[in-house]
Amino acid sequence: MSDEVSLYQEVGGSDFFVELVNKFYEGVVSDEIIISLYPDRNDLEGAKERLSLFLMQYWGGPTTYSDERGHPRLRQRHFPFAIGERERDHWLMHMQSAIDAMPTSDSVRTRLSEYMSNAAQHLVNTGQ
Ligand code: HEM
Repeated sequence: MSDEVSLYQEVGGSDFFVELVNKFYEGVVSDEIIISLYPDRNDLEGAKERLSLFLMQYWGGPTTYSDERGHPRLRQRHFPFAIGERERDHWLMHMQSAIDAMPTSDSVRTRLSEYMSNAAQHLVNTGQ
């Protein structure tokens, strides 16, 4: 067992991620480039839950995401959606606004931002 405090613990647990994802979706719903990719844009509750559970798990919280959905395989799960640089940039813009709006430390914000940039780049699957 590691003695290191996870980012999940540092931000105070699950509420932080639920709030982050809610803020992210406030931007996404009015962004046609991103929202048009969603299979069901009228019901985003499931999508919000999947993203927040995934982020909790990634940052050291409970493994509910994988208990419910199996191995994340995010690249594979994003293949049905055409993600080019434009989609990546729009996604990141909303995620960065959400991160900036969270009451947390600069070091947490930096870690989240760097991770999101790398993860989003990894999911680009078209137009390169
Ligand atoms: C690069 C731009 C991205 C676009 C355009 C995009 C778009 C989408 C769409 C349309 C879905 C389906 C919604 C649903 O779950 O019902 C989805 C699912 C998901 N996305 Fe993304 N995404 C992007 C980046 C990311 C990143 C960077 C992460 C993680 C840090 C992420 C994590 C997830 C997760 C966990 C799911 C649910 C997967 C599942 O269990 O089925 N996405 N995304």
